[in-house]
Amino acid sequence: MKTESWLQCIVPSCGKKYSVKEQRTTCDCGELLDVRYKGAFPESLKETFSERLNHRQNIFNESGVWRYRELINFAGVDTEKPSDYSKKLVSLDGAEGRTKPFHLTRVAEYVGITTDNFWLQFEGDNPTGSFKDNGMATAFTHARMVGAKKVVCASTGNTSSSAAAFAANELDMEAVILVGAGKIAKGKLAQSLAYGAKVLQVKGDFDVAMAMVTALSKQSEIYVVNSLNSFRLEGQKTMMFRVLDYLRWEVPDWIVFPGGNLGNTSAFGKAFMELYAYGWIRKKPRMAVVVAEGAPTLSDLYNELELRWNRGNIDNSIIDEYYGEVDRKGIKAKTRASAIEILKPVNLKKALRTLEFTDGVVTTVPDSDIMDAMAMVSKNGFGCEPASAATVAGTKKLVEQGIIGADETVVGISTGHILKDTAAIVDYHFDPQNRFANTPITVEPDVKEILKLVNV
Ligand code: F0G
Repeated sequence: MKTESWLQCIVPSCGKKYSVKEQRTTCDCGELLDVRYKGAFPESLKETFSERLNHRQNIFNESGVWRYRELINFAGVDTEKPSDYSKKLVSLDGAEGRTKPFHLTRVAEYVGITTDNFWLQFEGDNPTGSFKDNGMATAFTHARMVGAKKVVCASTGNTSSSAAAFAANELDMEAVILVGAGKIAKGKLAQSLAYGAKVLQVKGDFDVAMAMVTALSKQSEIYVVNSLNSFRLEGQKTMMFRVLDYLRWEVPDWIVFPGGNLGNTSAFGKAFMELYAYGWIRKKPRMAVVVAEGAPTLSDLYNELELRWNRGNIDNSIIDEYYGEVDRKGIKAKTRASAIEILKPVNLKKALRTLEFTDGVVTTVPDSDIMDAMAMVSKNGFGCEPASAATVAGTKKLVEQGIIGADETVVGISTGHILKDTAAIVDYHFDPQNRFANTPITVEPDVKEILKLVNV
């Protein structure tokens, strides 16, 4: 099956189209772009996707991204012909996107929803430990389509780890990453160094590094793999395909996840917009985007200043004024959930579109709730990094507020692995003041004393 695809400005009053063979992140008018498709998307594909779970040693069936290749076919491959698609699609040997939702009894109880109605999908179970691998598979496929050799990103640590790994595995590509000096968790920095990326520690935070990358993107030799790249978001849609596939295409009432640069907010919304347009689903889930109190842009704009997508007629003056004040006052994002320590999310407008389409909500959570929620996920035998726990903290808050009904179905997305930011976890547990602290006990090498401590 083949599909026609193109890039198109997200703002309907512009709507300018470009070829997918172009390497561009924005429209000539300055707005973001979407990958758009024309083709037949028969509902029988649901059956095909399911059959591919028996992958028969085909890595593009094993991949939780390329299993859905018909729905993200900007590379124009023949989706039934391995000799065609295996040359064009980039994969970490089928390892990316092999995730699914799980029931977590203790976490469900913590957030106030019955176990049967609550799932968490652990995208930290991707090969580089975060959801980014979903998007890098498609971003690198496009990079290869346009002959790029040097991929660049700004990062709070996970995008960079993923880009570095994909570049390493592609053999002929180099990853250059810009991170805020001292701003990313050690596990993530370690990955980028180990995978062999060129690591530039920018004096500043993520927003500063992102501004550098946006400026660099004008150079044709530089291929940007931040979520500004519309092709990356195509891969991130597959997280939602896997949720639905697992739930037998029954749409949950809510999807809850953390917001940072708002790539997921954009990608998840687009996934549902498309499936709705294809007639595969008849209900829209409501999206709940959870941001840290110390990085509140989306909440400030959406909840306080009532900024809306408004069918593409956004009041830009609200955004300009908000960022103007941020710059004038020198305000910086600040949260222990370093992955989402972002004040100027590049996908803001696409995120607003998602919120409109899904009747979504935005909520903020303090670091203390994020850290307690992170500890709770681990008390359930699973685990995640701080930013991911915003999902659980946010769900709990929305249930307490009665926005999420206790009898509604909720799928939360956990975005990064427990071992990404071990310092945050150790610090939490070493402080006995914390609600779920499991503080270690220092003992003399004395058998009697140890027996006493273990109550034997
Ligand atoms: N959770 C984790 C673990 C992340 O790494 C990120 C983003 C997010 C949530 C937010 O997702 O940007 O789609 O809204 N990390 C980026 C990075 C910014 O550079 O690794 P988003």
